[in-house]
Amino acid sequence: MKNWLSVYEGRRRTAAQALEAVQSGHRVFVHMGAAAPLPLLDALCGHADRLQDVEVLHCITIGNAPYTDPCYCGKFRHNALFVSGNTRCAVQQGRGDYIPVFLHEIEGLFTSGILPLDVALIQCTPPDRFGFMSLGTGIDISLTAARQARHLIVQVNPRLPRTCGDTMLHVEECHAIVEATHELPEFLQGDVTPAHRAIAAHVSALIPDGATLQIGVGGIPEAVLASLANHKHLGIHTEMFSDGIIPLFESGVITNDRKSLHPHKAVTSFVLGTRAIYDYIDNNPVFEFLTNRYTNDPYVIAQNDRMVAVNAALEVDLSGQVCSDSIGSLPFSGVGGQVDFIRGAARSKGGVPIIALPATAKNGALTRIVPRLKPGAGVVTSRADVHWVVTEFGAVNLHGRNLRQRAEALIGIADPKFQSELQREAAVLFQRS
Ligand code: COA
Repeated sequence: MKNWLSVYEGRRRTAAQALEAVQSGHRVFVHMGAAAPLPLLDALCGHADRLQDVEVLHCITIGNAPYTDPCYCGKFRHNALFVSGNTRCAVQQGRGDYIPVFLHEIEGLFTSGILPLDVALIQCTPPDRFGFMSLGTGIDISLTAARQARHLIVQVNPRLPRTCGDTMLHVEECHAIVEATHELPEFLQGDVTPAHRAIAAHVSALIPDGATLQIGVGGIPEAVLASLANHKHLGIHTEMFSDGIIPLFESGVITNDRKSLHPHKAVTSFVLGTRAIYDYIDNNPVFEFLTNRYTNDPYVIAQNDRMVAVNAALEVDLSGQVCSDSIGSLPFSGVGGQVDFIRGAARSKGGVPIIALPATAKNGALTRIVPRLKPGAGVVTSRADVHWVVTEFGAVNLHGRNLRQRAEALIGIADPKFQSELQREAAVLFQRS
């Protein structure tokens, strides 16, 4: 083995020096989630004076996204594979763009050359004694991006947890190494509302013992996890999770021992949450981090028997079309892994694909079960893919139902105060004479 220590020393740079590699017109990839290397992003902005038309590409990140500031117009433009809270304003105001894409297909955009990467900004743990550095809270699409980029800059941060699975880059793969210790940004969940708890009660009734779960972040997933205290032998195969799974591991509800694929392992690709979950995954061999082209491949997901996928939505129309990534024509989030998991769970033996959403938005002023999606809204889960839809008013399975039956079922789980209006609309839409 070569002396990786001397390679490490030889490639060590300040952040400002390392970012000299970025040139006008480059596409720069940023590590996803809590692993976004914040000092490198600040250093990138420090080079703004000499740069033009640099594309900053990533999926959801947390922490600051300084390149989206209006002062950098013409210098940096964000291209979102998933719009996150820190970039939403820029994308919605037209200072950034959004690419709708299935999460499991993103790495293929890099490897096929559809989206070639000039520079990747990645965060890693310090190297182990063999020179391997872990990508920590997420390898998602980021490990592949690191390997596909023509120039790889790695920020080494001892506060990043060292995670297990396919999480390692070797020192020799990096072109520049920047040491910067900082606390990771935390993703704070919104409040769990009474509606979320009512939804969770309906969802948990659909989850059998021995199920394998895909469950993300947000009020509904948190409430669902909290409702599973009496379940047994649950497993995890997901693209991501958050703090809410810790009590279920600690109480022995999640055992992973009945999984038909990767038994005894919780498969994931990234984690978003607080220091509590970052510490929990640190050197924890139960968690098998694998990249999204594997975790989210519907054919892989389907190999988990009793696969239960729980995904949220913004609006569902009376035919079952699910809008999850936009409010009207305004991009709100992304396609993410929703369709990957809905399709995978639909193919799984005993699988349960679930779309869960509160029946209303804006303090009850708007129904989310609607006759027609808002103009410009994107359909994430198509009406042919949708199965279970759950609100606080109940759970219905649309699979195999015709349009009239779907409308009737969905009206039955809409907020009662909107039901008669929805019935009138449904009559116009589906009762042809
Ligand atoms: N019309 C107008 N506004 C609406 C609305 C509607 N139909 N539905 C929701 N909103 C508003 C809410 O009022 C809320 O606004 P606020 O922040 O000002 O209160 C905001 O949109 C977010 O709604 P909420 O229901 O709280 O969203 P969430 O945080 O639970 O996230 C998704 C829901 C659908 C956006 C999110 O799950 C997502 O992005 N899904 C797609 C990707 C995916 O499913 N990946 C797989 C799992 S990780």
